[in-house]
Amino acid sequence: MSKLKEWAKPFRGKTVIVRLDLNIPVKDGVLGDERRLCEVAPTMRALVDEQARPILLSHWGKPGGRVVPSLSLAPLAKRLAFHTDRPVSFCESPLGIGTKPQAGVMTLLENCRFLPGETQGDCALAQAWAKLGDSFILDAFSVAHRPHASVSGIGRLLPSVSGPLLRRELEGLLPLREGPKRPFWVVMGGAKLSTKLPLMDALRPRVEGFVVGGGIANTFLLAKGIEVGTSLVDHNSLTWAKNYLGQEGRGDAPPVILPEEVVVKGKEFRTVAVNDVKEEEAIMDIPAREVGRMTMALREAATVFWNGAFGAFEIPGAERGTLSLASLLSKWDGYVVAGGGETLASLEEAGVKGAFSFESLGGGATLAYIAGENLPGLEVLE
Ligand code: 3PG
Repeated sequence: MSKLKEWAKPFRGKTVIVRLDLNIPVKDGVLGDERRLCEVAPTMRALVDEQARPILLSHWGKPGGRVVPSLSLAPLAKRLAFHTDRPVSFCESPLGIGTKPQAGVMTLLENCRFLPGETQGDCALAQAWAKLGDSFILDAFSVAHRPHASVSGIGRLLPSVSGPLLRRELEGLLPLREGPKRPFWVVMGGAKLSTKLPLMDALRPRVEGFVVGGGIANTFLLAKGIEVGTSLVDHNSLTWAKNYLGQEGRGDAPPVILPEEVVVKGKEFRTVAVNDVKEEEAIMDIPAREVGRMTMALREAATVFWNGAFGAFEIPGAERGTLSLASLLSKWDGYVVAGGGETLASLEEAGVKGAFSFESLGGGATLAYIAGENLPGLEVLE
């Protein structure tokens, strides 16, 4: 019997509440990378084939506790049926149905974040959901850091177990959380330095260094007194970056490798030295050869963690830095982990999906887990 079949056996005939993460990217109403849907499909098939009655909860985007029609999960119910090749019934209420769900059919409830109590971790809401089922499966590692009603809330009220995807995440990320093999390098990109600060602080004593691109690099460059024009900068983290650079290379402040050449956009795209960015220009990307220079030291690494794009990856003409980084890291021998929505989308675009030691579906949760934080969603699991 396959491992998944064995895992699903205890749920035979049971009404089980499953928290998934179907938070897939969407732009102008067009669905982007459906990896999260594809990944949940085998688990869902296993439950349905056991004639379980899975009631599925998920968020999509940040509707802020009100009904936002463009974030209705109705179209995702159809995509889920497509990916699983099993029946999905969509329930227009995020609170669920009054009757017992049918055996062998998934019931997807409307976006749980349409209810304000979800992100507030409201106990009454968690109780209302808990009443719908006999047990709870958390299979959404990427929200395990959220103390939300559909995550730790239900988990506290029902017998709760981890789903296969969540288990896979924990296994893949554990080597980074607990004593990564040295040399250990961290590659950071993305827009906001503030979202990466807890991880950088936690890893300082354990890494050889940080290779930094994207908006985060702009913030460090500005902290060094370099003109970055109209580039994306996280002004709230500027003081932190200045302090870090003041200690860099000493004690537990390992080096931060920054780009020396960038691709900027003013009237047109051009490649320049970082000191030559004009006031009216914005840094959009890092040239491929510069990505090669920045990651030279990583060739000797035993462990690498990468999170975040190296440029405005979604804009044509600004995707090359991220794609070349994806392609370079996919060829390394060490334990190389890539994590986060944009990062994984770039693996797909670079044609290297599946080539990393581990590809984490989590964003903020992955950073929090590696930083050694206790995640509320994990604390309630048996
Ligand atoms: C993610 O995409 O990282 C998860 O779905 C969590 O989304 P959130 O940041 O809106 O909680």
